[in-house]
Amino acid sequence: MKDISKVYKAGSNEFKALYDVNLTINKGEFVSIVGPSGAGKSTLMNIIGCLDKASSGQYMLDGIDTNCSDGKLAEIRNKKIGFIFQNYNLLPKLSILDNVQLPLIYQGINDKEAKQRSIERLQKIGLGNHIKHKPSELSGGQMQRVAIARALVTRPEMILADEPTGALDSKTGKEVLEILKQLNNEGNTIVLITHDRDIAAQAKRVITISDGTIASDEVKIDSDVAYTLSKS
Ligand SMILES: Nc1ncnc2c1ncn2[C@@H]1O[C@H](COP(=O)(O)OP(=O)(O)O)[C@@H](O)[C@H]1O
Ligand SMILES: [Mg+2]
Repeated sequence: MKDISKVYKAGSNEFKALYDVNLTINKGEFVSIVGPSGAGKSTLMNIIGCLDKASSGQYMLDGIDTNCSDGKLAEIRNKKIGFIFQNYNLLPKLSILDNVQLPLIYQGINDKEAKQRSIERLQKIGLGNHIKHKPSELSGGQMQRVAIARALVTRPEMILADEPTGALDSKTGKEVLEILKQLNNEGNTIVLITHDRDIAAQAKRVITISDGTIASDEVKIDSDVAYTLSKS
């Protein structure tokens, strides 16, 4: 992102929610974006996730300029980004399997392959025995795991998680964070948005956003590496 700004307009009122944000996230990173309510997290996430466009500035995602038509932006979003939301956003009338398959069907992947890939993903995340269930028959933690399977099934360039533990008890929330860490260890790029400093601190890099600007950007040093550095 280069000089990304966002202005919301309502009639003659204008509100600037992001000021000249410059940000680079590399493949394979695990980044959290943290800040208080109203700081601009959702605004930034909507732009990162190709759900909304910046008012000015440039955002390149995997080499593609996102300043394009809405249709093209939707295509980029579907191909490149896996979303995980606080409230899971599962479709209640569909089975777990159909929920996970949906982004593949949107991509035009044939039913057989979509089904196979979705079952594999659900098995990997420990829900292989629940594929015919409806979301309402699962616990919150299980529903979030379905959402994670749905986010991963398209093999996206980036996982974008918006308060993924916000609706979960602390034990289940920790389990979901462990899954995200594991996915990052397997090479997935993860961007986690949260208002909670403790949750943000689980990421390898913590970006603090305040009043529409990046207030700090800290890369955490692995404790083993820190130890080695302190000895040398
Ligand atoms: N659609 C909108 N129209 C006008 N103002 C908005 C809109 N969306 C967000 N804002 C304002 O932009 C600021 C940042 O909002 P947001 O990105 O939702 O912050 P956060 O997610 O960190 O709570 C807030 O002051 C909010 O009121
Ligand atoms: Mg928000």
